[in-house]
Amino acid sequence: MLLTIGFVMLAEVFIFVPSVARFRLTYLQGRLELAQLATLALLATPDEMVAPELADELLANAEVMNIVLRRNDLRELILSSPMTDPIDETFDIRDPGAITLIRDAMRIMFIGQDRTIRIIGQPVKNAGYEIETTLREAPLRAAMLTYGWNVFLLSLAISLMTAGLLFWAVRSLMVRPIRRVVANMRAYRENPEDQSLLISPSSTVIELREAESSLCELQTQLSQLLRQKERLAQLGGAVARVSHDLRNILTTTQLLADRLEQSADPTVARVSPKLLASLSRAINLCEHTLTYGRAEEPAPRLRLVALAPLVDEVVSSESLHAPDNLVISAEIDEGLRVNADSEQLFRILSNLVRNACEAIVNAGQPGRITIKAAQNGAMTEIFLTDTGPGLPLRTRDKLFRPFEGSARKGGTGLGLAIAAELSRNHGGTLELIETGASGTTFRLSLPADSMAKGGN
Ligand SMILES: Nc1ncnc2c1ncn2[C@@H]1O[C@H](COP(=O)(O)OP(=O)(O)OP(=O)(O)O)[C@@H](O)[C@H]1O
Ligand SMILES: [Mg+2]
Repeated sequence: MLLTIGFVMLAEVFIFVPSVARFRLTYLQGRLELAQLATLALLATPDEMVAPELADELLANAEVMNIVLRRNDLRELILSSPMTDPIDETFDIRDPGAITLIRDAMRIMFIGQDRTIRIIGQPVKNAGYEIETTLREAPLRAAMLTYGWNVFLLSLAISLMTAGLLFWAVRSLMVRPIRRVVANMRAYRENPEDQSLLISPSSTVIELREAESSLCELQTQLSQLLRQKERLAQLGGAVARVSHDLRNILTTTQLLADRLEQSADPTVARVSPKLLASLSRAINLCEHTLTYGRAEEPAPRLRLVALAPLVDEVVSSESLHAPDNLVISAEIDEGLRVNADSEQLFRILSNLVRNACEAIVNAGQPGRITIKAAQNGAMTEIFLTDTGPGLPLRTRDKLFRPFEGSARKGGTGLGLAIAAELSRNHGGTLELIETGASGTTFRLSLPADSMAKGGN
């Protein structure tokens, strides 16, 4: 508010100075006109002379000390009273410059004394070519001071009113909305999960409204993330509890399955090692989940793993789920080895093969899944190709995001997210290479056996 008053007063100074100068000029012109009127009495007399008493009265009426009206080079009308003081300064106001006017006005106003001044001007209505009058400066200065004071008071009133209006406008348009935003942010900080605390943009100032909208967006996203995080935490707790009891059930099953190895039935004896291996994997997984007690996968325990036998194991275990018209096969060089955690690699490949199986089975067509591998520089690339219907469009963008990529009834959308995370933990990548009506190919790249670099 003080700033506004200051600025408006400053602006008023620029108006004040010229208007005081203009006031002085008008005052002096007024005196000259009155002086010229006084000379009319002289014209009415035959010898252009009046009695000294009338001359004094005429001069007093015009508030001047003497008047000289030059009508042409020869004729002069003169009214004068006895002059006591000498003339201190003469001002010619016939064609005054703005700077001169301002300078003279300021001088009179701020350092004026009671001087006797002579004014020379142009008579009105072409009544002559010059009129000259002498007067005292004090009444002029007093009039100028009164005028200046009035202008100052008016400026002050305008400043106060402008500042008041501006203050009110800034307060209601800016300060209050900003306070509201700050209060909302504080309340939201205390309880970010409370949906009712999301700010609703209401400011009439565009910029503030944009800021409120952005804040609202931010709060909405944050609240969603918090809810998601909470859901994940609950899920983590549930997974830990399930893993705990599942491990107990599986260990009992493992004990029972141990006995199958001694079975006289050759088929049972043949599958029981696979059954035991599967059970052992499941128990390991439960234990890892419990040990780490968190959603992330434990760091892989890297070892050189021969790829072909591991892939064979995946193929035979996944073939158990596949119908007869779905062929799963592997073409892997015997010597190819990868630097990997075999348990985790098994899980990655199982997830990929399982997805392909499910896609082909759901399409109700016969099909084929092929696993191939090749070494490419420092990486071993494993390609999983199927002849399924391809990925549904809506899953493609969020394929590797937990709980988001599923387009399958009963699917959780975790399989590919887990596979991708495990691949990353190995220092590798899992990518969708191509997908379409004739099938899908995923590429899993893992750091190769360093001894075999450049081979195959
Ligand atoms: N080879 C594939 N061919 C066609 N669609 C596939 C293929 N692999 C994955 N998909 C699609 O990607 C989706 C995501 O797969 P993901 O394994 O992440 O989840 P899910 O299989 O639905 O559930 P789950 O968590 O039980 O594995 C699947 O629902 C499926 O629609
Ligand atoms: Mg899956």
